[in-house]
Amino acid sequence: MTSLASRMIPALAALLPLAAVAAAPAGTANAASAAPPALVAGHSAGASAPAAVSVSTHAGTPALSDAAALGKHLFFDPALSGSGKMSCATCHSPEHAYGPPNGLAAQLGGPDLREQGTRAVPSLRYTLNNTPVWSHARAASLTERLEDPDNAPVGGFGWDGRFNHLHDQAVFPLFAPNEMANKDAATLLDTIAHASYAPQFKAVFGEHVFADPGKAFADAMQAIERFELEDPSFHPYTSKFDYYLDGKVQLTARELRGKKLFDDPKGGNCASCHIDQSGADGSHPMFTDFNFQALGVPRNRELRLNADPTYYDLGLCGPIRTDQSADRKNCGLFKDPSLRNTATRHVFFHNGRFHTLKDAVRFYVERDTQPEKWYPKDRHGNVVKFDDVPAAFRVNIDTTDEPLTRKRGDKPVWDERDIDDVVAFLETLNDDYREHDATGVRR
Ligand code: HEC
Ligand code: HEC
Repeated sequence: MTSLASRMIPALAALLPLAAVAAAPAGTANAASAAPPALVAGHSAGASAPAAVSVSTHAGTPALSDAAALGKHLFFDPALSGSGKMSCATCHSPEHAYGPPNGLAAQLGGPDLREQGTRAVPSLRYTLNNTPVWSHARAASLTERLEDPDNAPVGGFGWDGRFNHLHDQAVFPLFAPNEMANKDAATLLDTIAHASYAPQFKAVFGEHVFADPGKAFADAMQAIERFELEDPSFHPYTSKFDYYLDGKVQLTARELRGKKLFDDPKGGNCASCHIDQSGADGSHPMFTDFNFQALGVPRNRELRLNADPTYYDLGLCGPIRTDQSADRKNCGLFKDPSLRNTATRHVFFHNGRFHTLKDAVRFYVERDTQPEKWYPKDRHGNVVKFDDVPAAFRVNIDTTDEPLTRKRGDKPVWDERDIDDVVAFLETLNDDYREHDATGVRR
């Protein structure tokens, strides 16, 4: 992961002691927000501890630390891009659960905002302070655990889990030529040093912070991380489902029926990966187990790179992630995303292949029973199932977890009414459930 960053941005690598995160320690990728700022899992890496950390609370809402308040400025500042027009929030829109503001399969960035990205923008809600560090030691499902006891990957940030820390992850979009496309770290720091919030930067990290560019840059990345971990807007728990778990509202008969279908291990089996049970400590579920799976999502012609028939985005085994390619069993695997707020999205799966939630759900149901509906035909008229993975790696695609076990012509696990009910259940995962504000249901 660090090697990737250094490969893409040599100017930065020279400047920075980027934290090397080779061996992943146990625990979560980011220590809980209670951990001292800038000392997350010992990866302070040149960043100084922010001066003051306010921990006072008001009306149950923890105040942001000074570093996090500064990070908020950085997250929303379009000046921190080659185009001068793109901030983190351009792609991770707070009005869209920090997901994409539109239905584009991948966003347009770069110096003139015309370079296309390669993957769909994930929501940043809920997962950031819950994502385990990358590890390759646990099984993705019971079936896999039985077949392959010690070789299934979990955790890390990005669809391919290549970053263990938010302060490392933030470097990537800032310098990616098709995203924020900053020229180099020196230019970026110069912009920060002249921003309206520069005095705040000095107040938090020291009057002479800009004299040491390596440290100033690491401090900026730490500030972004603090904002992402601390700001309540990343984990509001205001969905109907959260209120339901707290016993404050009822789900409708239809939503409950959808949940049952979602849970049924012999039916949809969705909850085996998109966990919907509360934790032992009462924590509300994330709707992901942070494992990796190859689902065989069809190739998306909307992605310009896919015009090249030899290009494949194979997730864990590359080409963006580079440290896991040796293990061919990794090819085609992507991280299980949270389904919270998924019903607000207009683009689904790592390659943005689907644009309605119904289609995304229908794909699970009909992938195997009606493959001709989802995959193109070759020149002999044969359906090319799993066409976004080279033939050699199609063995990696999940055909053992329900409902992905069926054969062509079998009855699909759900009919249209079932799909509608599951979608109704998934809609209860949208934040900002308003109906009950009037009756005082707030957190
Ligand atoms: C041009 C659109 C774009 C911009 C701008 C952008 N991102 Fe992202 N972000 C993405 C995409 C696409 C991914 C998925 C990347 C991947 O899997 O390789 C992503 C992934 C992430 C993730 C991982 C989430 C997870 O749960 O795995 C985090 C965190 C994140 N971005 C934070 C940021 C921050 C902080 C900034 C600003 C410094 C930023 N992003 C700017 C598009 C963008
Ligand atoms: C074996 C684990 C597994 C099971 C079972 C599973 N999913 Fe998924 N789900 C994933 C993974 C992995 C992805 C991302 C795959 C990709 O993008 O290539 C995903 C993606 C999704 C997405 C797209 C979310 C987004 O933000 O792009 C939706 C919606 C979804 N799943 C719903 C369901 C439903 C409904 C079921 C039950 C019918 C289900 N899943 C069963 C692992 C699973």
